[in-house]
Amino acid sequence: MGNRLPLIAGNWKMYKTGDEAVQSARRLKELAADAAGVEIMIAPTFTALAQVAAAIQSSNIALGAQNLHWETQGAFTGEISAPMLVNAGCRYVIIGHSERRQYFGETDQSVQRKIRAAVNAGLRPVMCIGETETEREAGKTFSVLDKQIQKGLEGFVFQDLKSLVLAYEPVWAIGTGKTATKEQAQEAHAYIRRQLAAIVDDGFARQVRILYGGSVKPSNVKELMAMPDVDGALVGGASLDPETFSQLVHYQG
Ligand code: PGA
Repeated sequence: MGNRLPLIAGNWKMYKTGDEAVQSARRLKELAADAAGVEIMIAPTFTALAQVAAAIQSSNIALGAQNLHWETQGAFTGEISAPMLVNAGCRYVIIGHSERRQYFGETDQSVQRKIRAAVNAGLRPVMCIGETETEREAGKTFSVLDKQIQKGLEGFVFQDLKSLVLAYEPVWAIGTGKTATKEQAQEAHAYIRRQLAAIVDDGFARQVRILYGGSVKPSNVKELMAMPDVDGALVGGASLDPETFSQLVHYQG
């Protein structure tokens, strides 16, 4: 096993205005100040990024964005590039979240281009993968994960992917209250790690962090985090309230 620092990441989705985000970030900064042995990230909406960056300065919380465009600049109305995110204070960027795949036409190919853009700008990509309920029921979980990994990481070598984080998020568990069992999570994570070893190499597979996402909450975080291949959590609903999110970052006790 590699020496992987757990990452607890909050995806705030399209919640909170800039002012509300700052208020939550300030509270979280106080509550999480003593959290040890864990890395913390929050991803507010684009318009809140710069304000939240200022609010969490000199804290143990890193800033992430929820999406980016793959070009560095250009005539792409409504889009935001990796250098812009870096300038706003981001260290991480979530890529290929299932809501983006489902509602905004994100594909494995756009995910691949976005990972390239993030890496080039020095941002750490959090690449999301996961099967739908229909795919799981049809016994296609592993082939879906396989395709998402293969295509999303096509053309990359170990050197490019040093800062990559994977997030396994079964689509049927997102925002539904239905969490994967710890055994289901472990099975998928171990599979993903084996595939990464085959596609990239063993060293990479040992050091890459694989987060679990989908209805993570204070009542299930501990058992999920106890699984050998679960290296953190990508949290939606339970990250919005700083008190609840603080319980997650303190999952170790
Ligand atoms: P959830 O969302 O924790 O609300 O299920 C997870 C996610 O979408 O990353």
